[in-house]
Amino acid sequence: LAAEDPHRPVFHFTAPAGWLNDPNGLTQRGGEYHLFYQFNPDAPVHHRIQWGHAVSTDLVTWRDVPVALTPTEGPDVDGCWSGVLVYDGDVPTIVYSGRHGDRELPCIATGSDDLLVWTKDAGNPVIAAPPEGLEVTAFRDHSVWREGDVWRQLIGSGIRGQGGTAFLYESLDLRSWTYLGPLLVGDGAGSDPAAPDWTGTMWECVDLFALGDADSAHRDILVFSAWNEGITHHPLYWSGRYEGERFTPAALHRLDLGGRYFYAPQSFLDESGRRVMFGWLQEGRSDAAAVAAGWSGVMSLPRLVTPAPDGSLHQRPAPEVDALRAAEVADRALTLGAEETEVARGDELDIEARLTIPEGGVVAIVVRASDDDAERTVLRLRRTGDRAELSLDRSRSSLNGDVDVTPRSGEVPVDAEGAVEVRVLVDHSAVEVFAGGVPLTTRVYPTRADALGIRLSGEGVAVHLRAWSMRSVARGAEGAE
Ligand code: FRU
Repeated sequence: LAAEDPHRPVFHFTAPAGWLNDPNGLTQRGGEYHLFYQFNPDAPVHHRIQWGHAVSTDLVTWRDVPVALTPTEGPDVDGCWSGVLVYDGDVPTIVYSGRHGDRELPCIATGSDDLLVWTKDAGNPVIAAPPEGLEVTAFRDHSVWREGDVWRQLIGSGIRGQGGTAFLYESLDLRSWTYLGPLLVGDGAGSDPAAPDWTGTMWECVDLFALGDADSAHRDILVFSAWNEGITHHPLYWSGRYEGERFTPAALHRLDLGGRYFYAPQSFLDESGRRVMFGWLQEGRSDAAAVAAGWSGVMSLPRLVTPAPDGSLHQRPAPEVDALRAAEVADRALTLGAEETEVARGDELDIEARLTIPEGGVVAIVVRASDDDAERTVLRLRRTGDRAELSLDRSRSSLNGDVDVTPRSGEVPVDAEGAVEVRVLVDHSAVEVFAGGVPLTTRVYPTRADALGIRLSGEGVAVHLRAWSMRSVARGAEGAE
């Protein structure tokens, strides 16, 4: 059933069946990449979450291996929620949130060398309760790193009446933790929840890493997903400096202009020293539609994260994604007019374009357009000086009135030649766009089988475009040649 769903991506990772949410435990060891993920194999609903596990040597084609963690009697009886994998000497160790009733507490499991077999610690949970004397909105998800002789950990939370936060802890053995204080507290309780950079009342999936120059005011990056009372808002990050027990923010940034469609990301340093990030592409259709399809949730393509000159993050698909290109289907240089030009067709495509936009000009990139235009998803870039507003219009993405069509927009940089390098990856319902190093991820659910057109328009816009059809990495695709 699921295999026939026209909305199921073919070159993104999806769970073998059922439900997928956050990436967890991202690791590369001995050349092999490990992707763990929040998983319910039994149904496409978020329930009694396990840690699914897949392995890859190339970061884009994945082999399923047995589930790593399943809920058992005790502190994780209701779910093995998000966490990370660290090496304690040679011992692979998972730090995750055990769900019990409506609470989560930190738990530990140690793994075999091949990361396939996991044993939970008898002493779980390793922290018995959130910090005393504070009214917290939640307490879960972990960022864990080594600092000199000690381990440090952040746990996502929020302080009622104030805002989201990450609590900092320290340990010598990953089992006994000392609370040091909140690393930083947001102002979510007193600001506008409708703002695209609202910091929420709780921070999910905190991820702290150093990226920029040692002297930069933006050296350290604190990623989190803004959450409020069961609503997943969007991923954000602070750039700033982590020193001692505090994080001094320099600026707050949106991680992905698509908001909740790239949620709960996690990053890791791979063996070649690259900072690689994955995120969860949530569904934009109803729960009932997901149940009927038999699956829910897409893992993003791997992204490389590097520092941009202004202290923000530059994001782009890892070069490994290029290996999924099957055949070149377009290679064109043209100057656009007001009328739309069809440049390619397909729903499994990788498109790369350099768009030189006159001052004040607008370019539209239309994807998943049906021949009669009844369905179409439109991305627009409107240039003003060295910035452009990137916007997503899904008002006609689907004739099915039951899917999310909320518009999105935000700013992207324009280079000194007035150009923006754009990458658009279309994989059935999953669409990942990168413009000048800024991503916008979304989901669309056209109903028409001919909703395949890729079209461009924009008076005076010079374009050099290449497009490729993509190879399927879906299970069983090897035999389908
Ligand atoms: C984020 C999240 C985490 C939690 C996990 C549960 O999407 O809610 O905070 O650990 O998913 O599946």
